[in-house]
Amino acid sequence: MAMSSVVLAVIVWTSLQFGSEFSQSLSNAEAFAMFRLPVSLQSFVGWYHHPMNDKLGGLQLLELRDIDSKISNSVAFGGDCVDRLERLEANLDTNGVKVQQGTPMHGQLIDSYPLTEALHHGRDSLVAIKASLHLMHSVCLESGLADEQCARYITSLKLPMAENGSEEDSVEAVHKLLGDKCMAYHGTSLSCSKSTKYRSVNGSCNHLIHPSWGQAFTSYRRLLFPEYSDGIQQPREHAIGLPKNKHNLLPSARLVSSSLALDGDLPDNIKTLAVMQWTQFVEHDLAHTPVNKMYNKFESSIMCCKPDGRHLSPRYVHPACMPISIAHNDPVYSSRRMTCMNYVRSVTAMRSDCSFGPAEQMNQATHYLDGSMIYGSTDNKAAKLRLFRHGHLKNTAKNGQTFLPSAEDPSIQCQLDPNSQACYESGDSRVNAHPHLTVMHTIWLREHNRIADKLAELNPTWDDERLFQEARRIVIAEIQHITYDEWLPLVLGEKYTKKFGLTSKKDGFSKEYSENVDPSITNSFATAALRFVHSLMEGKLRLVKEDREVNHTIQLRDHFNRPRIVEENNHLDALVRGLATQNSQKNDMTYTEDITSLLYQDSENYGLDIISLDVQRGRDHGLPGYNQFRKICGLPVATSFNDFKEIPKAIVQKLKSMYKHPDDVDMLIGGMSEKPKDDSLLGPTFRCIIGEQFGRTKKGDRFFYDLKGQSGSFSEDQLQEIRKVTLARILCDNAEVEKMQPSVFHKPSSSNRLEYCTDDTKIPKMNFSFWAEEADSS
Ligand SMILES: *[C@@H]1O[C@H](CO)[C@@H](O)[C@H](O)[C@H]1NC(C)=O
Ligand SMILES: *[C@@H]1O[C@H](CO)[C@@H](O)[C@H](O)[C@H]1NC(C)=O
Ligand SMILES: *[C@@H]1O[C@H](CO)[C@@H](O)[C@H](O)[C@H]1NC(C)=O
Ligand SMILES: *[C@@H]1O[C@H](CO)[C@@H](O)[C@H](O)[C@H]1NC(C)=O
Repeated sequence: MAMSSVVLAVIVWTSLQFGSEFSQSLSNAEAFAMFRLPVSLQSFVGWYHHPMNDKLGGLQLLELRDIDSKISNSVAFGGDCVDRLERLEANLDTNGVKVQQGTPMHGQLIDSYPLTEALHHGRDSLVAIKASLHLMHSVCLESGLADEQCARYITSLKLPMAENGSEEDSVEAVHKLLGDKCMAYHGTSLSCSKSTKYRSVNGSCNHLIHPSWGQAFTSYRRLLFPEYSDGIQQPREHAIGLPKNKHNLLPSARLVSSSLALDGDLPDNIKTLAVMQWTQFVEHDLAHTPVNKMYNKFESSIMCCKPDGRHLSPRYVHPACMPISIAHNDPVYSSRRMTCMNYVRSVTAMRSDCSFGPAEQMNQATHYLDGSMIYGSTDNKAAKLRLFRHGHLKNTAKNGQTFLPSAEDPSIQCQLDPNSQACYESGDSRVNAHPHLTVMHTIWLREHNRIADKLAELNPTWDDERLFQEARRIVIAEIQHITYDEWLPLVLGEKYTKKFGLTSKKDGFSKEYSENVDPSITNSFATAALRFVHSLMEGKLRLVKEDREVNHTIQLRDHFNRPRIVEENNHLDALVRGLATQNSQKNDMTYTEDITSLLYQDSENYGLDIISLDVQRGRDHGLPGYNQFRKICGLPVATSFNDFKEIPKAIVQKLKSMYKHPDDVDMLIGGMSEKPKDDSLLGPTFRCIIGEQFGRTKKGDRFFYDLKGQSGSFSEDQLQEIRKVTLARILCDNAEVEKMQPSVFHKPSSSNRLEYCTDDTKIPKMNFSFWAEEADSS
């Protein structure tokens, strides 16, 4: 019936610049009241709630002829594409094209290991993406719209749903299920209760009206409409404004990295490696981007280069491959004659409004700051990690100390070598990535169990479930407190966090929750801005004794995904002291070679380059160039390279020789090249992207720890106790260390002296008595 209704179509493109139309959706005063950020970003808040405002970028929609049948054909096409893909995969599978255990490619796979749930959703989103491509051709060709304009246009069309009374088992009805599936992922059938005291594991029902906001396996949000070369999914690969031919390609991600990133040792004089480790821990809480595996069985991994670093013959290249080309004169890889660095594209998710349109990448962690790297992001995973006694998380005891539980499948979860057996399980697959990260996970496992024991002492009648949930709730509050009170002011600068209301309150409750704020992580935050953490990393990890002298030093490159070192000879305690003692590296374009050529090193001393991978990921995800992000962060848009005033001149020269146009500069590279602004670690663009995110991460979380009047709120007394917690206290309580400086993100100094952990006047301690049942009025 609907198919025969004829609707006439013309599409008018009015060339509104984006930027100007954001603010129309919401008055400035309204935006300001909801969310205090720089004027240029205030308007984004409006965009978040009314995605249509930007997506169309000024397209005026008129009506379309036969749109229902066009949609239906497109979805059928999308389905066929994925069926064909699976036949191709069966072929690759039988030819044994897959990642080998222990290789650097295996390390990459561990880093972005897709959960089965992610692949299920990813497969459906692939149908929608292929359908979108088809739809674009069938509705936009004759109207002469450019790809990007057309991509914007089709975001106004919804994926089809099964209608009441339609013939149940026709082919058409099956294709229409795509819209229904999308709605189901987005939790439209979940009924959420306002009175639930604890967070769900997967983040659902934090928002009561939009249950899927912030839920695991949903897509990242966008600050800017994505830039794909075909409008939908192909990464941008040509310089802007020039004919699209092989002379005007963007430089390869590896060439960008090898020309711009320097090897070296430039320590930060006052900050410790704990800053690096907390940044990464928080990053893993907020975001985890999975890569594709084969969809035919969800089992086989995808490999995009030969194990020896040469290109695969085209017939073995999986469509999800986007390998990085290495120049024949590469400073590192040429000696091995390598021409190919493996890169598999990220898993995509259906768009949050269930429309057609460009590919969106999936976050398989919850978008909230909620300890998901400790507890997992699915009910399944959480259940595997729980002991179901005493409210505890599972653990293993070794040499009288508590460690993380052993991994279910060490040969998949670690890059094991024959004499390394340790491999751990946690809420996040990256737990084994390097020793300091494993240490941080271990410390928090211990903290959870420590709190559960305290609560059990005070409340002998509480059962396992109550103890577990209450301990988890306190752990999450501690993480939020440390993040907003100690870490964020140091990363963004005191002035900036104060100005934009990002500091934590010292007493009383906050009332800042707004149900208009979508907390979802932005693609640019996860894929570019927070990646500044790699610049802080150190290649030599010091094992430090109680007197803060160095016992010995280990090399990062020897321990990727091989965490055995952590449980030997009390190394954990020495690594904890090291985190709080050793200088962090400066945030700049200088990186340690342990991650720029030896990442996930194998036994033949061959490894990968994290910057190449990060730049490639930005392109894979359709992130627009750095220049576009300058604009939304209130910096002038550069028309020539010399307009990049925030970047040191020497680096501008390199950018000029590398890229053809200022708009081509990759976001990660531009953002990392900026000089730090004021007292921030970061330049203005990354500071703004990260500030914007942490604003929403706080204001869009109904369970935020200092909120008043919510089902999950603490009592005022309890909140005052949580406010005493510092990372110093957490390290003191969960490692065998005698002394710590009160601010572990800063080197010990005359104003930050080492103090005995037993002295709770110097390193304050929570008093749990307010959690005794009769005292707990919450
Ligand atoms: C299907 O029918 C029910 C009951 O008549 C109605 O509430 C619902 O909105 C209909 N759904 C659609 C997609 O038309
Ligand atoms: C998230 O968790 C809730 C509650 O456990 C569950 O009902 C829902 O199906 C989950 N959502 C997804 C997408 O797995
Ligand atoms: C120094 O390191 C060695 C070897 O790991 C260890 O056995 C020893 O206990 C350490 N010494 C101190 C004082 O921590
Ligand atoms: C904890 O707080 C309770 C209640 O205010 C108080 O009686 C007790 O002395 C405190 N304990 C410590 C160790 O300070």
